Amino acid sequence: MSDASEKPTVSRFNARVVLISVGAALGGFLFGFDTSVINGAVESINKHYDITNTGLQGFAVSSALLGCAVGAWFAGGVANRLGRIPVMVIASFLFLASSILTGLAPNLPLFILWRVVGGLGVGAASVIAPAYIAEVSPARVRGRLGSLQQLAIVLGIFVALLSDNLLANTAGSASDTLWWGLEAWRWMFFVTAIPAAVYGIAALGLPESPRYLVHKGDYDKASRVLHDFSGELDVNLKIQEIEKTIDKEKRESLGDLRGNRFGLKPVVWVGILLSVFQQFVGINVIFYYSSSLWQSVGFDESDALLESVITSITNIVVTVVAILLVDKVGRRPMLLVGSAGMGVCLTTMAIAFSQATGSGDNPSLEGAWGTVALVAANGFVVSFGATWGPLVWVLLGEMFPNSIRATALAVAAAAQWLANFFISTTFPKFSEIGLTFAYGFYAFFAILSFFFVWWQVPETKGRELEDMSDDARVVRRGGKTQVVEGAA
Ligand code: GLC
Repeated sequence: MSDASEKPTVSRFNARVVLISVGAALGGFLFGFDTSVINGAVESINKHYDITNTGLQGFAVSSALLGCAVGAWFAGGVANRLGRIPVMVIASFLFLASSILTGLAPNLPLFILWRVVGGLGVGAASVIAPAYIAEVSPARVRGRLGSLQQLAIVLGIFVALLSDNLLANTAGSASDTLWWGLEAWRWMFFVTAIPAAVYGIAALGLPESPRYLVHKGDYDKASRVLHDFSGELDVNLKIQEIEKTIDKEKRESLGDLRGNRFGLKPVVWVGILLSVFQQFVGINVIFYYSSSLWQSVGFDESDALLESVITSITNIVVTVVAILLVDKVGRRPMLLVGSAGMGVCLTTMAIAFSQATGSGDNPSLEGAWGTVALVAANGFVVSFGATWGPLVWVLLGEMFPNSIRATALAVAAAAQWLANFFISTTFPKFSEIGLTFAYGFYAFFAILSFFFVWWQVPETKGRELEDMSDDARVVRRGGKTQVVEGAA
């Protein structure tokens, strides 16, 4: 078993790994773009398809998230059978088809169907990027490279915001006709074909993951890829280490996740709960419902757009901060600080909205309370974006043993998409009860996440993936991160 201390890596090899990781992280761009492109189109879609029922309106928006959950769930099995790269290519193809056919959809059922198909691709991409990046990265920079996925996600959210507004402004509004007799909202979906195609082409140029190659018994290729990545001439030892942690005779399956804690292995629960907490703090409520939030704190519509742009840029900047810190400071301290920051900011928002005037779904905050809510909301985005946003994806890529990585990651990511679906579809109902209730709910989970990390999440910084195998797992025990032999 290798030691957690570093072997020096030559920078030109690192440059290659960075490039390869960027290619895989492009899937994150689709993720961010797809989940946020609908924002600019939603009112026109409701009008065009004459959707008056609010439940159906919510479903038209969030149906893609269910597709994401299904795509994430199946991506693990396909990645084990066909390899990591084919999953990326399939994801880009599904996404490409969806962007064109959603834009052309003649009726609501087809619109929803194509959104779900796109979701399948996004869900698959969300699983394969962290797995692949973790498998190709040297341990000492794995956190940084893994965080590139989140950088791509937040860039995707930002570009979708800009592109939606640009198209709507060029046409006059999202419902007005733009080119070839098609309304601007349709073009919002067509443009997503560009990143989908770029992702697919980039994926075709990426080498297969060395851990998958060893699993398939293709040692020559695995040696070449490992040599390329590490610069070391003798990679046999590494291959032996990888071999020890996978059972080539066996096809990885859901059954392998079974264990003694409520039916699953403890590490699988940690992955699922990290995912659920990441969504239950309510981050996507800020992104999906941002303009109504900013209007309620006193901005008019055009300022609300500006505020959404500022929040998005803030999110990008703090992701870069996370990239700089993650392999120095470590995962645990950052998550703990993030939970504390989110807890404080969300509680502040809950208190501020208790001062709101106006009806449930149209609250307004006067004077200083508006400013308090605005600062707290941005403080929440900073706390999340610098910690839980990128780190959960990094951890999901690296924390599972080689023998169950793809499957366990798929299950955890599916749980994350379902949690996202739950939070985004319940927000309108929650805000009818009152925004204090909604933000109080998210604050509760932020505070709970602190204790969860404290007790359950081990530090994985600098450890080789092979140190996190079934026979020697990194766990939290007795208030410390320990390597426990034989702890499946
Ligand atoms: C994380 C979340 C995603 C969210 C994004 C916002 O990637 O998984 O749901 O939209 O952060 O920054």
